Amino acid sequence: MRILHLTDPHLFADAKGDLRGTVTYSSLSAVLDHYREGNWRADLAVVTGDLIQDDSAGAYEHFCQLLETLQLPVYCVPGNHDIRQLMRAATGKPPFHYCESLLSDNWLIVGLDSCVTGQAGGHLNVAELARLEAEIDAAAVPNVMVCLHHPPVQIGSKWLDGVGLDNGQEFLEKIAVSGKVRLAIFGHVHQPYDTDHGGVSIIATPSTCRQFAQGSDDFAVDDNPPAYRRINLHANGSYEHELVWLNN
Ligand SMILES: [Fe+2]
Repeated sequence: MRILHLTDPHLFADAKGDLRGTVTYSSLSAVLDHYREGNWRADLAVVTGDLIQDDSAGAYEHFCQLLETLQLPVYCVPGNHDIRQLMRAATGKPPFHYCESLLSDNWLIVGLDSCVTGQAGGHLNVAELARLEAEIDAAAVPNVMVCLHHPPVQIGSKWLDGVGLDNGQEFLEKIAVSGKVRLAIFGHVHQPYDTDHGGVSIIATPSTCRQFAQGSDDFAVDDNPPAYRRINLHANGSYEHELVWLNN
C-alpha cells in the first residue's frame, strides 16, 4: 500500500493568501503537480492537519478541489488550525475521510484527533486513546500505522516542544503494549523528523508550504521548499519512506 503523506497546507479562502511569504494555495498545487509528474503512484493520501489557516469554509473548499484532482481516497486528521465542524463537513464524505481508519494489505491505518480547542499544543483524550486500542484489538492484522497532527516526542526545538503532544509518553506506552504499531506519522512541526522509538518509527513530514527552522529555541522560519513524503507499506510488515523536497 503506497501512501502520499501531505501535511499543514494552511490554505486561505483567498487563493492568494500567504503564510509568511508563501502563497499556500500555489505551493500545495505545486506539490500535487510534483507528485503527478513523478513516476511513483499512491493508493491513498494522508493529510495530518492544519488544512486551513483562516477559519473559513472557503479554504476547505479549496482543499477539496485541489485534492480531488488526485483521484485518490484522502484520509484527514485535524490540526490546531482546523475548525472541526467545518473540516468534518468538508472532509467527511468520499473521497475524503475524517479521522477514519482503513484496513488493507495486512495493515490498519488509524487517524487520531490530537487537538484541543483553542490551544496550539495537543492532547490525546481518553476517548481517542480508547478508540485506538479498540481498533487495534478489533483489526485482525499484525501491522498498524497511526496518523496524527502533534509530535508524540520532543523534536529538539524549544518552542515547538512546548506545543507538542502533552501526553506523548502515554501514547508511546499504549502503542508499545499493542506490539503492532510500526510507525506514527505527524505534521505540525513544518520540518523533517525521523526517529526510532522502541522499534516504532516516529516520522514528521515538512509542510506543503513554509518550513520552520530546525533546532531553533524560538519561532523561526527557514527557506526550505515545500515537501511531501512517499510511504510504502508492505504486506509482510516492512516499509520504507522517502521525503521529497520540491527543489528536486
Ligand atoms: Fe501547521
